[in-house]
Amino acid sequence: MSDRKPVLEIEDLSVAYQTANGLVNAVNDVNLKVYPEEIVGLVGESGSGKSTMAYAIMRLLKGDAFVTKGHIKVMGEDLYALSPKELRKFRWNKISMVFQSAMSALNPVMTVQTQIVDTLTSHRPEMSKAEAIKRAGELLDVVRIDRKHLNSYPHELSGGMRQRVVIAIAIALSPGFVIMDEPTTALDVVVQRSILDQIREIQQVEKFAVLFISHDFSLVAELASQVAIMYAGRIVELTKSGTLRLGERHHPYTEGLLRAIPHLTADEVVIEGIPGTPPNLVNLPSGCAFYPRCPLATDECRKARPNLYQTDNAIIECHLFKGDREVQHV
Ligand SMILES: Nc1ncnc2c1ncn2[C@@H]1O[C@H](COP(=O)(O)OP(=O)(O)OP(=O)(O)O)[C@@H](O)[C@H]1O
Ligand SMILES: [Mg+2]
Repeated sequence: MSDRKPVLEIEDLSVAYQTANGLVNAVNDVNLKVYPEEIVGLVGESGSGKSTMAYAIMRLLKGDAFVTKGHIKVMGEDLYALSPKELRKFRWNKISMVFQSAMSALNPVMTVQTQIVDTLTSHRPEMSKAEAIKRAGELLDVVRIDRKHLNSYPHELSGGMRQRVVIAIAIALSPGFVIMDEPTTALDVVVQRSILDQIREIQQVEKFAVLFISHDFSLVAELASQVAIMYAGRIVELTKSGTLRLGERHHPYTEGLLRAIPHLTADEVVIEGIPGTPPNLVNLPSGCAFYPRCPLATDECRKARPNLYQTDNAIIECHLFKGDREVQHV
């Protein structure tokens, strides 16, 4: 590993949506680094800001969303400083994304081959059509779809196959960094499992780094080396995934999520959700955003936002960890 510069460097990033009710602060003061060939997980309840952060990284924020502060660098490059032409060259060549609504990412009236070839030739104008067709076939091999489906339309494929095509398109130009936003959520458990195994295999061959977004903790823990836990747009913990279990030292929110994983007792499946609801992002609580739902909250949690503390396995934004070493950012 010669190049240890991060492929992704997020510094103090905040993103908001302008709405009739005011600014919805969807991402708040986020710092995060992803290094080459690394898989980092991003988890959090629905509405915690995961997709918004992904769109901000891709410079694909839509409509009323905008970056209110901070910087994002992808492979040392500030995407927000690029011209539209430069951006077009950068996206998909260096960074790509599998979208949360991947099923609708495919064009229903184009064959698989045409969609892959279009992606290749529009981002690599120097690539000939013949080369692009050859690469399309290779890509189907990579995601283990029979090449006969090059001529299929999306509706002729199963959900799992469509998702594999979307992944093939995301890795078509060999990017160094791929964001996967809930890439398997819409699929049944068996198909999910096989696609996940495949993502892992492909990643080991193609060596791209991944930001893997999911609300499924066990899935992320299995795939990623580190996991960022998001609450109300803040990364409240960054932890080694190997220690993501109850009994280790974690943020109370992380513990809540861990308890929310369905588990078996002697004769029943138990699911304990986290009581309460996420805060209003127009008006975040003054202290720790999680304090209204935290079983361990004190008066201080209500008043002051916690600093970050480094434990053996994690960096945690929580007053309970005051005895640990304070750090500036994750
Ligand atoms: N277009 C929009 N206008 C206003 N608020 C929005 C808009 N899109 C998203 N939000 C708000 O921003 C917050 C973050 O949304 P986001 O989609 O990033 O969450 P998420 O973590 O990806 O959730 P999920 O797990 O459901 O995909 C939510 O509170 C959401 O309501
Ligand atoms: Mg999302």
